Amino acid sequence: MTRVYMDANATTPLLPEVMEAMRPYWIERFGNASSIHLDGQQAHSAVDRARATLAEFFNCHDAEVVFNSGGTEGDNTAIFGLLRPGDHFVTTSIEHSAILAAAERMAAFGVETTFVAPTASGLIDPAAIERALRPETRLISVMLANNETGVLQPVEEIGKIAKAAGAFFHIDAVQGAGKVPLDVRHFGCHLCSISAHKMHGPKGVGALFVRRGTPLEPLLVGGSHERRRRAGTENVPGIVGLAKAAELAMHSLEDGTLVSLAALRDRLEAGILELSGTGVNGAAPQSAPEGWRDNSPGHAQRSPGKEASSDHAPRRGAANSFVHQNLGFPGPDFRTGETTNPNRSFNEESTNPVPRVANTTNIWFDHLEGEALVIALDLKGVAVSGGSACHSGATEPSHVLLAMGLDKTRARSSLRFSLLKTATEADVDYVLKVVPEAVAHLRAISPVAAGTLG
Ligand SMILES: Cc1ncc(COP(=O)(O)O)c(C=O)c1O
Repeated sequence: MTRVYMDANATTPLLPEVMEAMRPYWIERFGNASSIHLDGQQAHSAVDRARATLAEFFNCHDAEVVFNSGGTEGDNTAIFGLLRPGDHFVTTSIEHSAILAAAERMAAFGVETTFVAPTASGLIDPAAIERALRPETRLISVMLANNETGVLQPVEEIGKIAKAAGAFFHIDAVQGAGKVPLDVRHFGCHLCSISAHKMHGPKGVGALFVRRGTPLEPLLVGGSHERRRRAGTENVPGIVGLAKAAELAMHSLEDGTLVSLAALRDRLEAGILELSGTGVNGAAPQSAPEGWRDNSPGHAQRSPGKEASSDHAPRRGAANSFVHQNLGFPGPDFRTGETTNPNRSFNEESTNPVPRVANTTNIWFDHLEGEALVIALDLKGVAVSGGSACHSGATEPSHVLLAMGLDKTRARSSLRFSLLKTATEADVDYVLKVVPEAVAHLRAISPVAAGTLG
């Protein structure tokens, strides 16, 4: 049976080049990067080369790259490594659970968190972040791209707000890495988490950018690995695989792959939207909640911390103009390359599309249970995710969609289609063939559609 995998935001397969790059480090070059003999040296220099590639990927110095086990560890490290009792933490209600659960744990240690809600389109308004600040705010954490909607957040503007307030700024870039260029200097962040398995690299490995001078306590202590910022024998094959995936991702950002991917996603989306009772979460203009923006400054300014001023030449020479042209808000729409009005306010969001990564669309289907549709599509060979997550055996609607103002029924009826970088026209054709069949079948047998349920 044809199988089409459209769940890239959950995980991605290794690209063959990544597999090949990793292969020698499992057997012939198995050395411990800390050993002084030849085997150790080979491993050590592989890690050094990988660090240089990651520094280029982040646009930072080699010494600012810390290898770890992935996005969850990077996110947890930012929170547990910086926040102390009495601190205030600002994040958003649409973050991954690696942030939300860590914030919850910090509550027990006397750290209060403000969760900033998104607009109806899934964007975080920088002014809302600014309003949430307090004199004791030590850390702000906002994701680059949302894993469920693909909506890109205005991290550069938030970086400026953090700098003005003297707060540290962490970006969870797990879903943005490889889909838009990273430029930690331009973003103005102190910390930035990425994960290899979301960008065609191996699972269980990632990296955290740590700006020089950031007083981050390590999560893991033991040996002096990673300049004492993350103890534990380096996962050399994983690190080599991450670097290869990052190198390939940098090429894809420039060779037109992502533009084609956005076109495929748009064709898929348009095809599905031909079905009645459907709509897009996080891109289709929706009206903003009443009174969600007010311009009152309402927060005390703190003098910028020492870390905020330490700017120095990063590994990648010039700032990546692609970032300026294609990422960020207000600004151009990554999907189309159109330049939107830089003076546009968040209130105008209701008439403008919001920027999204190229591979993701999140669609609601009225009169359907998303979970039933996920299963029906799986039986037809298509892998997608629902707008709900299983917590302790109960299916809860997605916290992201609820935060955007969807009611529970619509959130439960939503599906995320996230395309692999290797997706083809034939994949989209197949999905566009089976989705209408599955939707028609499920609606025909749905008591909700038939109006037999209240
Ligand atoms: C936005 C975001 N952050 C963090 C993570 C966690 O990354 P990892 O699976 O590498 O622990 C994920 C994974 O789904 C994610 O989507």
